[in-house]
Amino acid sequence: MQEIKKYVEENKQRFLDELFELLRFPSVSADPKYKTDVFKAADFVAEKLKEAGADQVEVCQTAGYPIVYGEKIIDASLPTILVYGHYDVQPADPLELWHTPPFEPTIREGKIYARGSADDKGQFYMHVKAFELMVKTNTLACNVKFMIEGEEEVGSANLSTFVNVNAERLTADVVLISDTSMISMEDPSIETGLRGLSYLEVEVTGPNRDLHSGIYGGAVANPITVLCQMIASLHDGNNHITIPEFYSKVAELTEEEKTALNSAPFDLEEYKADLDIAEEWGEKGYSTLERTGTRPTLEVNGIWGGYIGEGAKTVLPSKANAKISLRLVPNQSSAEIAEIFQKHMESIAPASVKVKVINHHGGEPVVTPTDSVAYRAAEKAIEESFGKKPIPTRGGGSIPIVALFEDVLGIKSVLMGFGLDSDALHSPNEKYDIFNYYKGIETLPLFHKYFAELSK
Ligand code: BES
Ligand code: MN
Ligand code: MN
Repeated sequence: MQEIKKYVEENKQRFLDELFELLRFPSVSADPKYKTDVFKAADFVAEKLKEAGADQVEVCQTAGYPIVYGEKIIDASLPTILVYGHYDVQPADPLELWHTPPFEPTIREGKIYARGSADDKGQFYMHVKAFELMVKTNTLACNVKFMIEGEEEVGSANLSTFVNVNAERLTADVVLISDTSMISMEDPSIETGLRGLSYLEVEVTGPNRDLHSGIYGGAVANPITVLCQMIASLHDGNNHITIPEFYSKVAELTEEEKTALNSAPFDLEEYKADLDIAEEWGEKGYSTLERTGTRPTLEVNGIWGGYIGEGAKTVLPSKANAKISLRLVPNQSSAEIAEIFQKHMESIAPASVKVKVINHHGGEPVVTPTDSVAYRAAEKAIEESFGKKPIPTRGGGSIPIVALFEDVLGIKSVLMGFGLDSDALHSPNEKYDIFNYYKGIETLPLFHKYFAELSK
C-alpha cells in the first residue's frame, strides 16, 4: 500500500493532466457531428494503453465506433482480469445549464466538472493508471486485458458481434468494471445488480397532414392528446405498470434480501431535499431503494409533437411521438418486454389514430454474485483502502455488456464503481471528485493483488 501511495503521489499531476486531455474530446456517440472526435478519443486511449505498458494494443474497427483492446499477459498460470469501460459520452445538452464548458474540464471545490468525468472516462482511466503503476513498480499480480468501447451510451449495437468473434482473445477469469456509484466515500459500497433496459419509440399518427385546429378541432382526434392518454394509462393509481404480463416473470425478494437491501444507509429527507421535491413517488408497497434497485419501471424520456416554436400556432398536428424506456429486473427479457409493450400500445390505441412502435435497443438485467473470489477480492481491496467493509447494493442503471459477458463468455463481473449518484451523470455539470479518482487508482491494484491471492 505504501508503494502504491508513493507512486500516485509522485505522478498525481500527470494523472490529472492526462484525464483532462481525454475529457477534452467531445466523444458523443449519439451525435454524428462528433464522429471524428469519437475516433480521436479511441486513438488517445490506445496510445495511453501502450504508454502504460500494454501489449497487442489495437483500435478494433466495428460497423460503428471502435473498441480499444490491449493486454499484458505475464504468466499463463495467473488469473486474468478483463477491464471494461467506455470512452463515449452522452450529449452535453442543454449547454446553457453548464457553469463551465462541458468539454473544458474545470476544477471547483476539488471536483472535476466535465461531460464524462464520472461516466465513464474518469472511472475507466483509473484502471489505465493503476495498470501503469503496477507495470512500472513491477507489482502486476494478474494478467490484464482491456476492452474500452465507444458505443455504450447508444446501446452497444456492435459489441455482441465483437465479443462473439473475439471470444478467444477475451478469455478471462473476471470482468472488472468501474462505471457505477458508491453510496458515499464514508459508506463505500459495491453494486451487485443492474437493471435491464428496453428502449422504444412510439409514433401516433392522426390525420394525414397538420390541420387548422379551428376548422377541424373537435371533430378529429388530436394525436398529442391520444398519446398522452395512452401514456397516462400505463400506470395505475398505485403506480403499478398496467401492461398485461409485464410482471409475470419478476421475482419478489425474500424477506432477508429486503432487510439487507433496506439496511443500506439512505436518508429519504436528504434525497428529496437534494432533488427539490416535496414527495417521492413510486410503486405502492416498495421502499425507494427497492423501487430503483429491484423493481421494473417505465419512464417517458421525451415527448414531442405539434408547434413548439416562438409565439402561437393553432395547429392540430398529424403526429405525436414519445421515447419510452423500461428498466427490467432478473428473469425479464428485453426482447419479450419490447414485444408486449408494442402489442399493448397497439391494443389501447383508439381507431381514430394509427400507432407505430420502434424498438431501439435493449439490454438484460444482472445480479452479480457476492460469494465469489472476485467479490471477496473487491471487498478486501475496498476495506483496506477505505478502512470500511463495502456494503452490497443494487443499482438502478444498466450496463448491457455485463449480461452479455456472462452469456457469451461465461464470465461474471465485479462492479467496482467509485462515482456517486450525485455526480450528475447524463446531466449538466457532471462531475467527478479528484479524491475519488486517486482513491480508485490506489484501490484497484489491491483488487489485482487479492484476486491473485484468493484465486490460489
Ligand atoms: N454508467 C452508466 C450506468 C450506471 C450508472 C449504472 C450509475 C449504475 C449506476 C451507463 O453509462 C449508462 O448510462 N447506461 C445507460 C444504458 C445504455 C444502454 C444507454 C442507462 O443506464 O441508461
Ligand atoms: Mn457509463
Ligand atoms: Mn451513461
